[in-house]
Amino acid sequence: MLTGTIGISGAKNAALPLMAACLLTDETLYLANLPHLADITTLATLLSQHGAELSLDGAAPDGGYSGRVLALTAKEIASATAPYDLVRKMRASVLVLGPLVARHGIARVSLPGGCAIGTRPVDLHIKGLIQLGAEIDLADGYIDARAPGGLTGARIVFPQVSVGATENLLMAATLARGQTQLVNAAREPEVSDLAHCLVAMGARIEGIGTDTLTIDGVERLHGARHSVIADRIEAGTYAVAAAITGGSVELKSIRLDLISSLADTLVAAGVSVTETTNGVLIARQNGPLVGVDVMTEPYPGFPTDMQAQIMALMTTATGASMITETVFENRFMHVPELSRMGANINVHQSSAMVRGVPSLRGAPVMATDLRASVSLVLAGLAAEGETMVHRVYHLDRGYERLEEKLAGCGADIERVRAA
Ligand code: EPZ
Repeated sequence: MLTGTIGISGAKNAALPLMAACLLTDETLYLANLPHLADITTLATLLSQHGAELSLDGAAPDGGYSGRVLALTAKEIASATAPYDLVRKMRASVLVLGPLVARHGIARVSLPGGCAIGTRPVDLHIKGLIQLGAEIDLADGYIDARAPGGLTGARIVFPQVSVGATENLLMAATLARGQTQLVNAAREPEVSDLAHCLVAMGARIEGIGTDTLTIDGVERLHGARHSVIADRIEAGTYAVAAAITGGSVELKSIRLDLISSLADTLVAAGVSVTETTNGVLIARQNGPLVGVDVMTEPYPGFPTDMQAQIMALMTTATGASMITETVFENRFMHVPELSRMGANINVHQSSAMVRGVPSLRGAPVMATDLRASVSLVLAGLAAEGETMVHRVYHLDRGYERLEEKLAGCGADIERVRAA
């Protein structure tokens, strides 16, 4: 049982596009509430080699700002190339493409390639830039983009919702000539956070938070100060930790509306979710968990980044739960590992039928991607006996001080260094 309070960090998936936005201006962008994560360091390395100067200002004093503050200044673009060895480490590196072409007129970005959760093409990013007037060649595994005379606004209708393509094209359109409309745009809070920061930098954007973004291009953007929104996936993960252990945990600095689809699922499963003055309180002290069906969808639907965690929860519920993944085609890598801990799960195409078992058993398990790994930690918290999760470097990409935050609420968890 976990009891206590957990402070939620700034969102990784908001921080990454926000950092890339520094390439749009020669002035300084200050980002507060920046999480301390491996992916942030990877993007910082890439931005430095594009010519950005980065400095950590340490913890911000107050005024609503907490966490680390990073100052990013890209006075000049020293290199327009995002090399394979950095992009392959982290797909989000492709977010430098839009800003580089828009400001510098040229970009050479490695194609990211597939990853553990699916093929994840970037065709929508590329097609959108072509519509904005960029010339693009794909050769030697690289995207070569050129727009020597600058980009021109266009109406871009996405055939499918893409967070990354919306962010890349939103950034590019801020410096394009004339008006751009992004239709069927992603409505994820991280996209809105980026849009608000771009507005603070001088961009003209209408429709923030809706599926149609209208951008009127400006000559230049300037520096700004922005605080990264709280990580709704980190918050959701700890909400499941409280639910799976039958505890009571207050999640500080998260707004209930950012996790409402997860909250609805938890309530239907028998967990209590209440708003507090500081955040959200998750509690399950009496009564069993009940199986609930879940289908992942773009925001405001149930997030694919919470699918593995909710599955871990459902393995211990009474009754069955059908979990359907509609965003990525191969995001069930955690199933065989959860099964090794005694879970009863059958996968058929994009759905997993989870039949609850009375209890899970600890086992050595292997992490495959960020969210799959954390689902194994959650299962391990509820399991009888010891669970050893291998390849925890996946966790460090997206969870800041995970073991510290959980141990602070009474979890018996430690990081064991390899001998
Ligand atoms: C973002 O990835 C997140 N990453 C992911 O979080 C998250 O799972 C995903 O959005 C969906 O919410 C960051 O924000 C850095 P997409 P992104 O483009 O932008 C297909 C985590 O665990 N697609 O919205 O890459 C794609 O294959 C990570 O923190 C195309 O077909 O996701 C997928 O099926 C993992 N062509 C779907 O769209 C394209 O050009 C949604 O992907 C682009 C995407």
